[in-house]
Amino acid sequence: MRPSLPPGARVLLTRLAGSPLEAVDEAMSLVPMEAPDPDALGASELLVQVRSAAVGWVDLLMASGQYQHAVRPPYTPGLECTGVVVGAGAEARAAFADGDAVIVDGFSCGPRSLGPYQSQGAFASYVVAPRQALHALPKTLSFDQGAALLSSYETAYHCLVTRGRVGPGETVLIHGASGATGLAAVQVAKRLGATVIATGRSEAKLAHAAAAGADHTILLGFDEGRLRPFRDEVRALTGGRGVDVVHDGVGGDISLESLRCVRFGARFLIVGWASTPFVADGGGLRGAPRANQLPTHLMMMKGLDVLGCPTAISTAIDPESRAPRLAQVLAWAAEGAITPHVSHAFPLAAFREALHAKWRGDITGGCVLHP
Ligand SMILES: NC(=O)c1ccc[n+]([C@@H]2O[C@H](COP(=O)([O-])OP(=O)(O)OC[C@H]3O[C@@H](n4cnc5c(N)ncnc54)[C@H](OP(=O)(O)O)[C@@H]3O)[C@@H](O)[C@H]2O)c1
Repeated sequence: MRPSLPPGARVLLTRLAGSPLEAVDEAMSLVPMEAPDPDALGASELLVQVRSAAVGWVDLLMASGQYQHAVRPPYTPGLECTGVVVGAGAEARAAFADGDAVIVDGFSCGPRSLGPYQSQGAFASYVVAPRQALHALPKTLSFDQGAALLSSYETAYHCLVTRGRVGPGETVLIHGASGATGLAAVQVAKRLGATVIATGRSEAKLAHAAAAGADHTILLGFDEGRLRPFRDEVRALTGGRGVDVVHDGVGGDISLESLRCVRFGARFLIVGWASTPFVADGGGLRGAPRANQLPTHLMMMKGLDVLGCPTAISTAIDPESRAPRLAQVLAWAAEGAITPHVSHAFPLAAFREALHAKWRGDITGGCVLHP
């Protein structure tokens, strides 16, 4: 007889709040969770005991209904995690055995998935996942690194490879380069043979971007809250030419300044807008009343390709586009060519602290919860 699994806990979001922090402080709570019965699993389902769950920017936006993909509460947040298989249905047993270390993929399970597994996020002791949601954890990665892999590195791949077509010898300006997607982008851009200029607001965090391979770093300056122009530094680093590609996950004034840092015919990758998180209304009202705006005259005169890079939406519209991206990210990880950096780990019970740290920008690379 198999030993019974201990009870655990999960985070539950009961309503979409007016803002991400209101959601964290008032609409989320930790509730007890019985271990699901492995003998009650569907034929193609697996039971995973979660070891490490990624805390993402998207978790914050989703909880206030400001993310493009709306999830109806109640649900457990957490887009992706790693863990150990502790039960398998009759068919799933052919693919995974008890004790296997796995990554649970957010596209097939949890709040970013579509369908019956949407309410089962990763901020939990256990996840019941369909067979297609599981990937073997590369032996090169710890549970924490594995939890921080897919979303960030697939985004970097989608932005820099699929959309940006970055090639050897090109120069890429990466904003928010110490964040989850930014640090992944630094590593992927280096893997593609590019020269990387990384920006950020803290020397200490930029040191991680340099350690991840960034060739140059620019510490952003602010005068009474206003961004100090950095075009001269970028021009000096590119022999007066300007960069070939901008990877912009920050938005706001940084986007505007970046339009002055590019060569003619450059590619401008719109990845996100971490500095302007209130573009959409909270409470699930949606819309984009405070959307970022970019001047068309600079796009026109500089012959720019301005490319939106929504990884999840592109994957939903063209699911087959994912296979080569996923295979490459897993292969790079298995080779040790990309190594996610996780600066903070919290116990599950400290989920509020973790989400606040993510919101404040304290994190370098990934942040995880340990159930
Ligand atoms: N396109 C996609 O498919 C996709 C996928 C995932 C995420 N995203 C989006 O990408 C953005 C970044 O996500 P993430 O997970 O990387 O977030 P993150 O880990 O919080 O990193 C964002 C970085 O942006 C910088 N930043 C934040 N506020 C800033 C401000 N006011 N001024 C200047 N810099 C600021 C911070 O770096 P410093 O503290 O060093 O300045 C921070 O590390 C978000 O908008 C997210 O929604 C897009």
